[in-house]
Amino acid sequence: MLDKRMNDALNKQLNEELFSAYLYLSMSAWFDSIGLKGFANWMMVQYKEETEHAMKFYSYIQSRGGEVKLLAIKEPPQKWDSPLHAFEETLKHEQFITKCINELTDLAEELKDRPTMNFLQWFVDEQVEEEENDREIIDRLRLIEGSKNGIFILDRELAQRQFVPESQ
Ligand code: FEO
Repeated sequence: MLDKRMNDALNKQLNEELFSAYLYLSMSAWFDSIGLKGFANWMMVQYKEETEHAMKFYSYIQSRGGEVKLLAIKEPPQKWDSPLHAFEETLKHEQFITKCINELTDLAEELKDRPTMNFLQWFVDEQVEEEENDREIIDRLRLIEGSKNGIFILDRELAQRQFVPESQ
């Protein structure tokens, strides 16, 4: 049985993951609206991954006999100044999620809740990858410095990203 504090914290993280999905779906719509279909695709894949993250929390809470409580999802922003700005905001958001995961891990340690510590390890590793992906695209956008050609080349590349469900 899950400790009440752990259950509440996991429900809060389920909500943060759903907000992440919402944020990236909003970014996908914005990229689409400015004609950058490849960037829009990259964000759409990100949206799907975040939905999967949320569902991992959902299933885990249930598997431990806890109570799933769905909280209100915040409204995400709808516009960004540039592709670089959108990716800088993405990195900032992922750094916030990393902090949330670290705090969840601290709580699981405090409660000596080993199954939850084990469950969270996947997210600890995932956050390293998430931040690395964002930094890589930010570095490239900074090199391009708004050059239209550079943006179109990167757009073609980001169009290749595909969603691979975690179970496969
Ligand atoms: Fe599920 Fe991007 O954090």
